[in-house]
Amino acid sequence: MPVITNIDDLHAIYRRRVPKMFYDYCQSGSWTEQTFRENETDFDKIRLRQRVAVDMEGRSLKTTMVGREVSMPVALAPVGLTGMQHADGEILAAQAAEDFGVPFTLSTMSICSIEDVARKTQAPFWFQLYVMRDEEFVDNLIGRAEAAGCDTLVITLDLQILGQRHKDLKNGLSAPPKLTPATIANLATKVSWGLEMMGTPRRQFGNIVGHAKGVTDTSSLSSWTAEQFDPRLDWGKIRKLRDKWKGKVILKGILDPEDARQALEMGADAIVVSNHGGRQLDGALSSIRMLPEIVEAVGDKIEIHMDGGIRSGQDVLKAVALGARATYIGRAFIYGLGAMGKKGVTHALEVIRKELDTTMALCGEKDIHDVGPHVTLVPKGFRGEWERPASNS
Ligand code: GLV
Repeated sequence: MPVITNIDDLHAIYRRRVPKMFYDYCQSGSWTEQTFRENETDFDKIRLRQRVAVDMEGRSLKTTMVGREVSMPVALAPVGLTGMQHADGEILAAQAAEDFGVPFTLSTMSICSIEDVARKTQAPFWFQLYVMRDEEFVDNLIGRAEAAGCDTLVITLDLQILGQRHKDLKNGLSAPPKLTPATIANLATKVSWGLEMMGTPRRQFGNIVGHAKGVTDTSSLSSWTAEQFDPRLDWGKIRKLRDKWKGKVILKGILDPEDARQALEMGADAIVVSNHGGRQLDGALSSIRMLPEIVEAVGDKIEIHMDGGIRSGQDVLKAVALGARATYIGRAFIYGLGAMGKKGVTHALEVIRKELDTTMALCGEKDIHDVGPHVTLVPKGFRGEWERPASNS
């Protein structure tokens, strides 16, 4: 049994175990991948202030996210095709999150369906919605999420069209994988993944297959998004969705203070400062770099979450210090899931909790609610290196 001391350990096992097509899907950004890279590297630029001679006993990482008690300020982000990273992946990740006391968010583009996850879990999970052209299908998805006991709808706003990830095109990404000579050669080296996958009936987009009409190819994320995602999504439509959903609404994909103000006006319960893990607008600034400006604009009026680049508890602490109520991990839990199923997701959460707890203590704080900008050292120009031209708003 390997000793797991950090998220990189899980990443290394994940890489060996999972077919290239799905590893690449997770480990890609769009176009040049600049934003994908900077989401991580910008965290490295922020440093922490070491404080001493502070009583460290009785530390607490507990907080709330849209009213829900969480054991630490980390939720599992919605990740498409999670059930291709490991058989029944969404169910396993949701169970690990439930045991750990953090929210799990199910992607519209999941392999296990809303009903599959509901049957195998007790705690309400969150449902992430992509808005489609077919309103009946969207209404149906929302109704299914409500019937499954989901209490929070996470509406993704930054993927009306899909950012191009070169590797997915080259690999012919699909679920289930289409058996080309290259895919067969690669799958032949992933025996345990394949055996587990043969043991589950869940190998297609579970929320879509059998539910959506007029789809050319239900196995392809790119053709589905091109045909079905609503390019006309605007604030008016978002308001209608907000009014339709009885529970909490989180708007995900906010990277600009102007949009944060709009989200506030919509009556959202929280926003997620996010650039979709660097998978959409390549060239956008990293989430952590945009966070302080958005906190300044709306932080006293709405709960602010963030995702993008979080691979450690130190990263979580830095995000909280710069004003995020809480964070999401996507790739970090997928590494664990692909490496060793539910146990791997638990490992990922444990690693992050330990790092977060120790880091907070060494910064001289005992309660996550007391963590603020004072625990960080931010390089000059971190926020203002890029100015908006004066003529633009
Ligand atoms: C969304 O499903 C993505 O691939 O980023």
